Amino acid sequence: MSARVAVIYYSATGNVHQLAQAVADGAAAGNADVRLRRVPELAPDSAIDANPAWRAHVDATKDQVPEATLEDLEWASAYAFGTPTRFGNVSSQLKQFIDLTGGLWQAGAFHNKPATGFTSAMNRHGGQESTLLSMYNVFYHWGCVIVPPGYTDPLLFAAGGNPYGTSWPSGGGEGPDGATLEAARYQGRHLAEIATRVQS
Ligand SMILES: Cc1cc2nc3c(=O)[nH]c(=O)nc-3n(C[C@H](O)[C@H](O)[C@H](O)COP(=O)(O)O)c2cc1C
Repeated sequence: MSARVAVIYYSATGNVHQLAQAVADGAAAGNADVRLRRVPELAPDSAIDANPAWRAHVDATKDQVPEATLEDLEWASAYAFGTPTRFGNVSSQLKQFIDLTGGLWQAGAFHNKPATGFTSAMNRHGGQESTLLSMYNVFYHWGCVIVPPGYTDPLLFAAGGNPYGTSWPSGGGEGPDGATLEAARYQGRHLAEIATRVQS
């Protein structure tokens, strides 16, 4: 049976969105059924409108990427979660979605499911790793099997060599570079392969 991978993310200005798409493509290449889902935006229009890149991204994705639901989490046999860093932590938008999962948690819906994470901070040392580790605290509580990329493939070094998960320093203003997108695709494929092994 194919693994079912839910790629769930928040992105304000598109960097994490690009990583999420690459993770989803990689999982599909690993023969998984994939759902790419964005969590609902919570920020007021006044904040979004103050940043043209944020407004453009909200408008570009609202009809393109379905919103995540709790049913996506029930459906999936593995998870890839993505968030921009917010002061070294998970964004409130992704956290709000996570905080709706108490019922699923109580029912054991997450037990033994492989899970991984990816992120973007403006700065190379601006909290990429602490954001991923914060996210992984949730996966521990859920009883997931955390699947970090580690250094399991040489291509990860070209993407900055973050063993905790794909991360992109967005400060240059460009979206993720080719090496980082390649690492994200690898991470998705790796997750799908581990999920297939766990469920067989
Ligand atoms: C409230 C807020 C807090 C942030 N905190 C950090 C931070 O601690 N370190 C950092 O390098 N970037 C920080 N950033 C920048 C974003 O994490 C960064 O631009 C990220 O690449 C955005 O991803 P996105 O394009 O998917 O929204 C912050 C941005 C905001 C709006």
